Amino acid sequence: MIIVIDGPAGSGKSSTAKAIANSLHIQFLDSGALYRALTYLWLRRGKPDKAEFFENLSEIELQTDYSNQVFHVQANGENITDKIRLQEVANHVSEIASDPRSRSFVNGYMKKLVAQGVFVADGRDLGTAVFPDAELKFYMDASLDERAARRFKEIEGTENDVTLEQVKQNLAERDHKDSNRKSDPLRKAEDAIVVDTSGKSFEEQLSEMLEIIDEEL
Ligand code: C5P
Repeated sequence: MIIVIDGPAGSGKSSTAKAIANSLHIQFLDSGALYRALTYLWLRRGKPDKAEFFENLSEIELQTDYSNQVFHVQANGENITDKIRLQEVANHVSEIASDPRSRSFVNGYMKKLVAQGVFVADGRDLGTAVFPDAELKFYMDASLDERAARRFKEIEGTENDVTLEQVKQNLAERDHKDSNRKSDPLRKAEDAIVVDTSGKSFEEQLSEMLEIIDEEL
């Protein structure tokens, strides 16, 4: 069984999905983290030719788990949980995620995982492309200013040289690329429930969503 939450960058999907997972005692899957993992590996290998990198994706073994509020990611046994959150990774992730080969790699991993348990997952194309038969679909949105302010607060202090304006620009660029790519772009599924979080407290929107889950499932 799976509940999916799609939406643009910084709309609060991950924090909400984690809170839902904690409240319902189900597992959490962060699909963006998987694209970030591929991006981090590509950057660390010195940005090799993309065609070659994508052809050899099967050599990458990902392992993930959610515990203590953190979605942990390992690649070939190495813990890269913190590294995938670097701004440099955010700056390149949409390029890596736009290739159908990286999408099919990530989607294959997710489908295998979800076949083994009950999940709430967040992403861009989960309700439309990856899990079109999900039991419940949400689409979360908020204004760009609000999303940038939230994301900036999350990373403030971890990377001193990143400004609010840079975070805002990165979110806008990623949304543009993610919405306009050919392979499985960011889209609201027709049967997704829209949650606009602008002006709402986290607790307000979470309880709104938990109520919907309670009614629908
Ligand atoms: O969710 P997060 O912001 O960490 O996602 C990072 C990037 O991964 C997105 O900007 C997008 O390019 C890509 N992504 C995607 N499809 C998903 C989840 C994330 O293309 N289902």
